Amino acid sequence: MEQIAVIGSGTMGHGIAQVGAMAGLRVKLQDVDESRLSAARAQIHTSLARLVRSGKLPDGAPVGIVARIETTTELARAVDGAEVVIEAVPEVLDLKNELFRQLDALCPPETVLATNTSQLSITEIAAPTTRPERTIGLHFFNPPVVMRLVEVIRGIRTSDVTLERGLELVRRLGKESVVCNRDAAGFITTRALAALRLECLRVYEEGIASIEDIDKAIRLGLSHPMGPFELTDLVGLDVALNNSRNLEQVYGERFKPPQSLSLHVAAGRLGRKSGAGWYDYPAEGDTPPA
Ligand code: CAA
Repeated sequence: MEQIAVIGSGTMGHGIAQVGAMAGLRVKLQDVDESRLSAARAQIHTSLARLVRSGKLPDGAPVGIVARIETTTELARAVDGAEVVIEAVPEVLDLKNELFRQLDALCPPETVLATNTSQLSITEIAAPTTRPERTIGLHFFNPPVVMRLVEVIRGIRTSDVTLERGLELVRRLGKESVVCNRDAAGFITTRALAALRLECLRVYEEGIASIEDIDKAIRLGLSHPMGPFELTDLVGLDVALNNSRNLEQVYGERFKPPQSLSLHVAAGRLGRKSGAGWYDYPAEGDTPPA
């Protein structure tokens, strides 16, 4: 495998593109406007500099890695020559369906179309295409550069050959894989994570413990790298809310979002990306309130 395309340059998309280029692949990263692409390039530069600083990459390596990533706003240009196209646009089924329709028209029949969805059905996302057997779920984790796993999900009609192509790409990227043999909303990890997050939110809403202590309990008592509130700030409260609503539709009441989550999102407290979520993230130079 030589070349892949990543569609959508947000948190996941730019990270997946970086992982591909670090593995020696040529990557075309597409988004709808130049300002998003320029933000993605800046984030890739920052992440590579961090890896150099911590001794995980040699000094000269970032130049070659960045040179392997081409950014473009044109979908046709992005997918030209790609063996696998990875979609990483927002978790809205209509949006993904429209994109898959376009990708199906633009790509030669042998191209594999993958989605980085963390919860939606692969079969439904691929429904408008003429190649359901060459579609697959490749679910990366945030931050993609650091996290070691890719969850590989079969749609109802995904072929064995496509599954093998997906697994081959994951190996090439230097990641571990797990396979979900049935296409069920939330796969393994999103269901497990949502269950933990929602239960911890209920513990907080019942007044049993503070956000800080719940995070500390999960970090120190259960050895998770982050507590659920810290992690939701990293992933985005809007993403978590959307995730919970999608799972609720399929599995019912047990994934119903607690009120405090909906209210934080309504108030624009979306996590690190908005400067505040469950915690505050003042920008450098901000003065703390008196
Ligand atoms: N780019 C490059 N390097 C990075 C990085 C990035 N974006 N983020 C972290 N690192 C590296 C740092 O260089 C650092 O390395 P050194 O210690 O050698 O310097 C190392 O990772 C640790 O980073 P930090 O010291 O900043 O902090 P940390 O030890 O807390 O690690 C973390 C940060 C990797 C995010 C860690 O806290 C963690 O694993 N958290 C849990 C993340 C998680 O669960 N992700 C899954 C979210 S769910 C999801 O993604 C599914 C979905 O679809 C929504």
